[in-house]
Amino acid sequence: IALLLSEEDATKVYIIGHRGAAGYAPENTIAAFDKAVELKADYIELDVQMTKDGELVVIHDPMIDRTTNGTGAVKDFTLQELKQYDAGSWFHSTFKNEKIPSFREIINRYSSTIGLLIELKDPELYPGIEVKLAKELKRANLHKRTDHSIIVQSFNRESIRTFHRLLPSVPTGILSLLPFSSAHLKEVSKYSTYLNCFYPILTPRYLREIKKHGLTPFVWPVNTRDAFQSIYKTGINGITTDFPNQNDPLCKC
Ligand code: G3P
Ligand code: CA
Repeated sequence: IALLLSEEDATKVYIIGHRGAAGYAPENTIAAFDKAVELKADYIELDVQMTKDGELVVIHDPMIDRTTNGTGAVKDFTLQELKQYDAGSWFHSTFKNEKIPSFREIINRYSSTIGLLIELKDPELYPGIEVKLAKELKRANLHKRTDHSIIVQSFNRESIRTFHRLLPSVPTGILSLLPFSSAHLKEVSKYSTYLNCFYPILTPRYLREIKKHGLTPFVWPVNTRDAFQSIYKTGINGITTDFPNQNDPLCKC
């Protein structure tokens, strides 16, 4: 995998499988990540939370209720306890054997195959999660990569600042639901390479503003063919989608 956006290739658009390929398989499971690989996405996006015994796990919500057959907060279970739950049947019965993956399983399985866009989800709930993530990446020797095949993002700017201080060699991104002022963009550009924006806020003018501050713009979620076609040639560099085969006539988008 060689993903780095070079100066000469500033028009490159990466396709990012949202929570794997959440339109086709239960989000944040091996089935969903395998599907994104099969559909030839450039990156998989995954959400990271932390267990009672300090292990990183891949699940979107701080509670396990929506995406498993269990109830309760991720932080109140050990990794071993979480592994007993079914993380696939809520999507379809054919996925009944899916489990909540540990972060380590994901990096072991995918880091030499596809880019990883890692989201620190709700980091305010897990003091020390940035240190833990930095340790896991170092342990797997992923912090030495220079091709941007590992990116760490969050809505929480403080968390990204902390992570950036710990592991400055790993590129970072900030997620935003609302447009940032010029002053905010300038501040963000000190510790972040990417700005991943909520689709509705992304006007051509705002895109220019983002680039003016040296940030690389990504967007989410882009789940219809119309949205995909309208954003593709605007100068965006990454499109996050539940359907990473938008150009395929068989796309379920
Ligand atoms: O990568 C963008 C996206 O994942 C942020 O929103 O809620 O899907 O984690 P959410
Ligand atoms: Ca996410």
